[in-house]
Amino acid sequence: MSKMAKLELDGKVYELPIVEGSEGEKAIDLTRCVELGGTKPGDLRAKTGCITLDPSLGNTGSCSSNITFIDGERGILRYRGIPIEELAEKSRFIEAAYLLIFGKLPTSLETHMFSQMLENHELLHEDMKFHFQGFPPYSHPMAILSSMINATGCFYHDKIEHYNPDTFKDLAAMLLSQVRTIAAFSYRKSRGLPIIYPDPKYKYTANFLHMMFSLPYKEYEMRPEVVSALDTIFLLHADHEQNCSTSTVRTVASSQASLFASAAAGVCALWGPLHGGANQAVIEMLSDIHRSGDDGTRFIEDAKKKDSGKRLMGFGHRIYKNYDPRAKIIKAKCDEILNSMKRSDPLLDIAKKLEEAALQDPYFVERRLYPNVDFYSGIIMRAIGIPVEMFTVIFAIGRTPGWIANFKELAEDKTTRINRPRQVYIGQTLSPYTPKQDRT
Ligand code: CMC
Repeated sequence: MSKMAKLELDGKVYELPIVEGSEGEKAIDLTRCVELGGTKPGDLRAKTGCITLDPSLGNTGSCSSNITFIDGERGILRYRGIPIEELAEKSRFIEAAYLLIFGKLPTSLETHMFSQMLENHELLHEDMKFHFQGFPPYSHPMAILSSMINATGCFYHDKIEHYNPDTFKDLAAMLLSQVRTIAAFSYRKSRGLPIIYPDPKYKYTANFLHMMFSLPYKEYEMRPEVVSALDTIFLLHADHEQNCSTSTVRTVASSQASLFASAAAGVCALWGPLHGGANQAVIEMLSDIHRSGDDGTRFIEDAKKKDSGKRLMGFGHRIYKNYDPRAKIIKAKCDEILNSMKRSDPLLDIAKKLEEAALQDPYFVERRLYPNVDFYSGIIMRAIGIPVEMFTVIFAIGRTPGWIANFKELAEDKTTRINRPRQVYIGQTLSPYTPKQDRT
């Protein structure tokens, strides 16, 4: 028999089962509440008239999931049980994507077949090109990305339905492949450059670099260390359980919207500077510090003042109260890629200085604020020539497998109901209607 939590309310006692995850995390199940002595379980609200209040959902488990495990206290991240460090060392992004979406590392044959599917879908519908022309040149590529993912639904309406297990693999490959083509086209459009079509001779990440940087008369020189660094960045961003964008994808999907509509919503949620937009914000912050001649000391002091409007971007995390394991890997990669390119970056020096200062500062220590995935990733992207406005788009390409995996998990769960939280209303009670002539 499962363990029970007891709740006493208005003289009655209720029991609520404690659910335990495979790694020992515990949750109080509000859907199976029983009054002491009673037998029929029901929702907490139906039984007691009370809801729970948890703004920003920091204490709320919105689902059970078997995709990704995070232990924020110990700085652990695993995809389908496999440590992120091992995947970053031994796997490529597409292999990790397959693992997340389909629950297992692919065999050679499965990798080959999935790569074939990605290749089959790498071209966008030719008429989508005209939509790119409609965006003004200064458009943020995240706005284009979200719009164009959604627009895909118009061009492939015969394929795009909520969920069909027989066609889902093909649809997943289509989204994963096209998100990369749309992302590269968005960049070319924002720079007024001609569109470069994907080339099947390249694998996933190399093909993205080709579409970003080749010219009609000159092919981009593919450097294996650059391809590998970007591939690792994609892989490290591939999933992170119920973060803001993934929760958005799940919420939209719970209304039985399509995979493409749900992913387009995920892109919008990712865009903000507290989520995926932080990688752009970090480089902007480091550049400002560099330009001002500060070595970071002044900025750290400002970031601690609530009224300064500044935060140390790339630091802190809702879940990690320890070093983000992804940041550790990316930090090491920064040195590796800069060394291999025989380059230095003053922003990396400032970032390291900021980290060192923050990790010794009581403000950051007491709040357990450590570098997160976004703190160093921009340095690598800068080194390989990705412009700053594309940083969050890179995050979005990387996060797509996680969105697809969560969409699939939700769609396959027979107990799924539409996400529909409640609220505690604190507005006016019943009020008289004021006719227009009497309003002040
Ligand atoms: N700089 C200065 N103070 C901070 C920072 C920071 N980066 N992050 C948190 N704090 C302070 C915050 O002011 C608060 O202080 P107090 O307790 O005195 O009011 C305390 O630490 C707790 O912060 P919070 O805002 O309540 O924490 P949260 O869990 O709601 O927010 C966060 C998490 C990531 C939004 C936040 O740490 C932050 O804004 N960080 C900077 C933006 C950033 O790097 N975002 C990327 C997150 S990782 C990638 C991703 O998943 O998207």
